[in-house]
Amino acid sequence: MEPIAYCKRLEGKSNAHLIQFDDGQSYVVKYFQPGFEKTLPNEWLAYCLGRYLGVPIPFSKIIDIPATFSSQVPELSDMSTTPYQFASLYIPDCKDAHQVTNLSGITNHKALAATIVFDYWFYNGDRTRKNVLLHEELENTYQLWAIDHAEVFGTYNWNLLDLPTLPTGLIKSATHEMMARFIDNESQFLQSFEQIQTIPIFLIEEIVSMIPDEWMVTKEERKEMVGTLLHRRKKVLPKVIPQFIKKIYLPLHTNKT
Ligand SMILES: Nc1ncnc2c1ncn2[C@@H]1O[C@H](COP(=O)(O)OP(=O)(O)OP(=O)(O)O)[C@@H](O)[C@H]1O
Ligand SMILES: [Mg+2]
Repeated sequence: MEPIAYCKRLEGKSNAHLIQFDDGQSYVVKYFQPGFEKTLPNEWLAYCLGRYLGVPIPFSKIIDIPATFSSQVPELSDMSTTPYQFASLYIPDCKDAHQVTNLSGITNHKALAATIVFDYWFYNGDRTRKNVLLHEELENTYQLWAIDHAEVFGTYNWNLLDLPTLPTGLIKSATHEMMARFIDNESQFLQSFEQIQTIPIFLIEEIVSMIPDEWMVTKEERKEMVGTLLHRRKKVLPKVIPQFIKKIYLPLHTNKT
């Protein structure tokens, strides 16, 4: 897939760019950036495992935009020349959760529990109202997309020592609360939890091994990414998901009249 036209820079600290490609689609492209070294590895691993679990993340892939293209676009000319970028299919005509004031239904509500459990598994502390996209399908009823996994594992520039000390308790997220209102049965949390437990270690290792060497994730860091997910699925999720159900999910539902 080759880029054909540069559209614009998107808002936010990741420096994401909207670019049109010769497959007829536009993609949001994030470049490797000094100071934000783990953005692309985080996006990649979160995308692959998130999709496996049914988290509604837009179709994404690792691409390589030729320097001949980037050098002709002023907005891209100061981007690093590191090969391989992360591209996520642009979903047009969406609002974020700040912009939707009257939300009465979510068409893909069956995917919401998976999204919350996934955020706890990866410790995604960045599920803000801007990091979900809402596409109106019927009046006040939206399809939800989960975007921006630059800050799974706590930050876009974690190092080896950060991962073992990631927080294990409840995450404060108004977006999680919003999503939890539309989850009709608490058993959906258990289903996602159980699906995470069945993911073969080999699959996680394989996805991590596909991170391009150019993104400079060391062998030790790759091992730590896998180890962190194994540890969190075994030790953290069994405690924090019941806490989420008790402290956040159930109060939202028992208050309903
Ligand atoms: N797949 C997509 N389809 C449509 N719009 C998107 C998509 N991905 C990102 N965007 C838009 O681009 C903006 C920036 O993307 P993203 O949230 O991934 O990075 P960021 O906001 O720069 O990172 P951070 O939230 O860490 O600052 C989003 O807020 C959203 O408006
Ligand atoms: Mg964002």
